[in-house]
Amino acid sequence: MSNQIIEETARRRTFAIISHPDAGKTTLTEKFLLYSGVLTAGAGSVAARRGGKAAASDWQEIEQQRGISISSTVMRFPYRDCLLNLLDTPGHKDFSEDTFRVLAATDAAIMVLDAAKGIEPQTRRLFEVCRERDVPIVTFINKWDRPGRDPWDLLDEIERDLILEPAPITWPVGESTTFDGVIDRLRNEYVQFTRVAHGSTMAPEKVSPIDSPVLMNSELAAAALEDVELLDGVDRVFNREKFEAGELSPVFFGSALTNFGVGHLLDAVVDLVPSPPARTDINDDPRPIDSPFSGHVFKVQANTDKNHRDRIAFLRVASGRFERGMTITHGPSKRSVTTKYVHSVQGSDRETLDEAFPGDVIGLINANGFRPGDAVYVDEPVQWRPMPAFAPTHFMIARAKDTGKFKQFRSGVAQLDEEGVVQVLRIPGVGDQAPIFAAVGPLQFEVAKHRLENEFNAPVELSPTSYSVARLTDDESVPLLRGLRGVEIVERSDGSIWVLFESAFRVRQVSEDKPEATLERLMADEAVDSFGRRV
Ligand code: G4P
Repeated sequence: MSNQIIEETARRRTFAIISHPDAGKTTLTEKFLLYSGVLTAGAGSVAARRGGKAAASDWQEIEQQRGISISSTVMRFPYRDCLLNLLDTPGHKDFSEDTFRVLAATDAAIMVLDAAKGIEPQTRRLFEVCRERDVPIVTFINKWDRPGRDPWDLLDEIERDLILEPAPITWPVGESTTFDGVIDRLRNEYVQFTRVAHGSTMAPEKVSPIDSPVLMNSELAAAALEDVELLDGVDRVFNREKFEAGELSPVFFGSALTNFGVGHLLDAVVDLVPSPPARTDINDDPRPIDSPFSGHVFKVQANTDKNHRDRIAFLRVASGRFERGMTITHGPSKRSVTTKYVHSVQGSDRETLDEAFPGDVIGLINANGFRPGDAVYVDEPVQWRPMPAFAPTHFMIARAKDTGKFKQFRSGVAQLDEEGVVQVLRIPGVGDQAPIFAAVGPLQFEVAKHRLENEFNAPVELSPTSYSVARLTDDESVPLLRGLRGVEIVERSDGSIWVLFESAFRVRQVSEDKPEATLERLMADEAVDSFGRRV
């Protein structure tokens, strides 16, 4: 049993793709499925889903209207002798908290860059989220079939802007219309690709050793070889330790559209990305992968499908073997949960899952009371470190428009709070009547409003507030802060006490006036005062 768990875990790779919208994440995902054999007759199913051909749920309507991806899905596919779990991250910056939760369940991320654009704002933002956890990053420079920037320039940008050491594993031969292959520095090969109509089947490859006359007879290949020698000279070489520490990124060049370099990238996932390690608990003790089953809830999502009005808790298996039908314990409530309804979720198609091993993601249906960060287990209890709360910068007061629907309003708000769609803060004495919704970006409010109205039948009125910064405080500091102008003390449902301020300038003033009051930053806080200083 223990051997089976260790062997199965060694076969798993769990990763995500991060990119700025339009860099090619969807195309690349399709090509991964194509190369794994999951998609046979041409790619396009992911894009078709996005285009609304699949059953659309309520908030997928918002996604479609705006052409953005809000909900995360998990794809699982075989490649070589491994099983790959690809976790999708929301593309829009307003959902970076969601992204963080997903990235907390991955062992690596592929950062896709558009060759013509390099690092874009959302790439940087998502990268920062990865850096918080030192997630290893594999870089894919996409769209090399089109005119783009100089490869050296792109490497410099990665190093300068992200403070990440780039180590090209492949180097392009030609560019735009002359792009015909890559030099693989690890295997010392020149791999030439052939275009296929619409990129609908794998691109045939011709492999020549690096010292073959093929390279000498081609001006482009000879030039690429010179570049590779230069790379060796400046020590741009792969180092596994630095990669696993999130300090160095192996770089691949290619074109998702024409399938050039897709195989190399998947090989990198198998060969370079670590298999699921033992997860450490709240006391920093590792739980060995072959200990009894445990899992980590990283995302709770309701209503992915109109035909199944239910809630799914996505959890990553941390240890042991999961078997459908098993009775597991939900850590925070100590409640026993039978797992008759468990799915691995692929796009919006659900597939019943019978067993899972560390690194796999399972969707537990009807997971009432589950929150991101929760632990589930059998036999040996475990508790994970809580998910950090992101610093919200947008605050709105929510009220039920129709007082007759207050009950629906209240249960809807509780549900959104549990899922982490928005953070719900309560002013003592006002409580559930008019909670404050706090968000990293305003699109979160749209999702909350839409869901309250459509799912809970509770029309809601959202009114702006003047707050823009939040800080954490404690019971002792409350009397010092109470009643101050432009300051509101609120409670979060987890019992923490937050202080809201109108501006970063006001935070600075209050901390200078009341130096003994605790005012702790939340995660990813970017508040700056009017002088541009971080407060
Ligand atoms: P995203 O999920 O990161 O937002 O990007 P997506 O894959 O949807 O790709 C954005 C656009 O870039 C698409 O074109 C796609 O075809 C194109 N693209 C992706 N990879 C490559 C590549 O390697 N080379 C080239 N030349 N183009 C690429 P579109 O016109 O917006 O959509 P479509 O009509 O082609 O689907």
